[in-house]
Amino acid sequence: MTSIKPTRRLEGKVAIITGGGGAIGSAQAQIFAREGAAICVADNRIQSAKKVASEIISLGGRAIAVELDVRESSAWRQVVSKTERELGPITILCNNAGANFRVEFEQQTDDQFELIMDVGLNGAFFGIKAVVPSMRRAGAGVILNMGSLAAIRPGGGSPGYAAQKMAMVGLTRSAAQSFAKDNIRCVIISPGHVDTPFIRGNNEHSPNSWETTIDNPENFNRRLVNTPLGRLQSPEDIANAFMFAATDDAAMITGSMITVDGGAGM
Ligand SMILES: NC(=O)c1ccc[n+]([C@@H]2O[C@H](COP(=O)([O-])OP(=O)(O)OC[C@H]3O[C@@H](n4cnc5c(N)ncnc54)[C@H](O)[C@@H]3O)[C@@H](O)[C@H]2O)c1
Repeated sequence: MTSIKPTRRLEGKVAIITGGGGAIGSAQAQIFAREGAAICVADNRIQSAKKVASEIISLGGRAIAVELDVRESSAWRQVVSKTERELGPITILCNNAGANFRVEFEQQTDDQFELIMDVGLNGAFFGIKAVVPSMRRAGAGVILNMGSLAAIRPGGGSPGYAAQKMAMVGLTRSAAQSFAKDNIRCVIISPGHVDTPFIRGNNEHSPNSWETTIDNPENFNRRLVNTPLGRLQSPEDIANAFMFAATDDAAMITGSMITVDGGAGM
């Protein structure tokens, strides 16, 4: 050992984080910024994105907030240009934006199914295509896709979510194969049960009723019992794995899935 320095493991990196105003996305933004990355916090709820970016700036980091509906391919191109202009070529993309409607197969409407696929899958595809040219200019990149237990063992509830998250495995491998020659890696990270508004609240992109929310002790305990390590995950548990996957410590990891689920997927 020659010296001990502060880690700053993402110094000089520029990250676009979709769903960056949400629970897991904002934890990624904060942790990445702490490690030295400049962050574009992208969300269709601009006020949440602005709040996250301001916090980072107030703590001495670099960040911008942009309004982005990931379903809009042309909006993606604008976000990439703005990020390059203000922060530099993009080296990390986190595709977090997601939606779910927790209803059984025959109850899920066509619109609900399409929305889940549009936000989670098409949005990630558009994002990857928009960002890769910038990563090539930077000479390297890491694309991190959000998976789920539904990418491992999708059950009967919400066919759209099952299809979207399983498809994310294919999208990850396809991108990993396609862009390895450009020194761009692609990894899918699958959380278990994370205590966030996605499964607790009643947002437009992820509505919950008493039947589904983890405010309901029955639902909370079912998820807890299914988690061998004995607690639900925090947004930081997931963000730390994204951070690891973004660093050179993960330089030989591509096309793989990292699970962060307390053993729930076993
Ligand atoms: N919470 C969990 O238990 C859990 C488990 C596994 C996977 N996930 C996945 O994690 C991701 C983030 O979830 P979270 O728990 O942080 O929830 P969250 O609701 O806090 O965050 C989701 C964010 O995505 C944004 N978003 C929704 N639609 C969008 C769109 N069209 N364009 C841009 N942004 C959009 C929302 O505004 C929100 O900020 C989702 O993909 C979800 O499927 C969550």
